[in-house]
Amino acid sequence: MVFSMTYKRAASFSIHVPTCIEFGWGASERIDELLLDAGRHCLLVTQANLLSLPAIDGIRKAVEAAGKTVHLHIVAEEEPDSASVDRAGRELRGQPIDLVLAIGGGSVIDFAKAVSIVLTHEGPIWDYVGYTGKPARQFENQLPTIVAVPTTSGTGSEVTPYAVLINNKLGRKAAISSPLIAPKVAIVDPELTVTMPVEVTAYTGADALAHAIESFLNAPMRTPFSAMVALEAIRTGAKALPDVLKDGTDRQARSAMAWTSLMGGLAISMAGTGVGHAMAEVLGGLTHVAHGKTVAVFLPAVLRLLEDYYKLPLPMLRAALGDGSRPASEQVWLLWQEVGLPLTLPELGVGQGELSQIRQDTLDYMGWAMSASPVALQSDDVDRILSYVWPE
Ligand SMILES: [Fe+2]
Repeated sequence: MVFSMTYKRAASFSIHVPTCIEFGWGASERIDELLLDAGRHCLLVTQANLLSLPAIDGIRKAVEAAGKTVHLHIVAEEEPDSASVDRAGRELRGQPIDLVLAIGGGSVIDFAKAVSIVLTHEGPIWDYVGYTGKPARQFENQLPTIVAVPTTSGTGSEVTPYAVLINNKLGRKAAISSPLIAPKVAIVDPELTVTMPVEVTAYTGADALAHAIESFLNAPMRTPFSAMVALEAIRTGAKALPDVLKDGTDRQARSAMAWTSLMGGLAISMAGTGVGHAMAEVLGGLTHVAHGKTVAVFLPAVLRLLEDYYKLPLPMLRAALGDGSRPASEQVWLLWQEVGLPLTLPELGVGQGELSQIRQDTLDYMGWAMSASPVALQSDDVDRILSYVWPE
């Protein structure tokens, strides 16, 4: 078999997609048949503002009509934190829950994954989070069946083995990573994203594109399969994001963004993210700024580092973004400008005094990200990225 030499690990890799994916406009209307054998006692995890939407109410009623008991848990936090997960675990443990149905954005789905762990395991949820210098505790017991129905197009959490949490005591944000928390079923119904506000559509879309781009740049982890999926997401998302922001009811554009998010999620499941996400998580842990906004700020800066400083031409990335003659960093920068996404840290309310903490945390607990790149990054590179996201 002949592989392109672009891919370092082409000679040997495995493909494992543990999630059964149902994709399509109106797919959630078939929830009763999709969940037929998924369990009898359902914990429905969602947000209060979603429950009043007819489509979400319809899903809840369909699950009840299918003969399942439904216990409702509302996620109040915009970005899930470990203390809320522990609290939910204390409240819910002892209930005979064998199905966890998450309906919402990435925060809700990640929260539901984490709750699935504390329902069946002792100890604080942060024990199961891992990062540089802190190995994660392993699961021993079987988890409930996790089913995810995304209402945003961004995190791809409906297919990933990750649940990202904030620890407010430590001021850190990091992930639980295990194939056991990848949802068994993902119902990706773009119709559910139509009510998403413009700003959320923009920054969740940026997250989806960042997943695809960062996984594509993660040379040590990338495989031909993850790269193919990532390039498909980049091509689709770069075109669809401006369209969906012009008209949020555009069925094709909403479907394309749901597809981008799904592909981005699959790409990071296989090849991980990179320093852009690492710095975004550090910032999120310190400030609670929405994940998509922090990711948006760092992505063009990371690309600029690779192109301007390391002189990497990144031709496949340029072409996938739509213009093979323009640097990828410039194309992402222009796209963000067009759709009104933040490009600098002050736009997120970050002051100069916080830069040293961001730098230190990136090199400390996010140290893994230094090698998740086409070139091994050094501490000076973190300073360069920070200088790019500061107004000139
Ligand atoms: Fe992300």
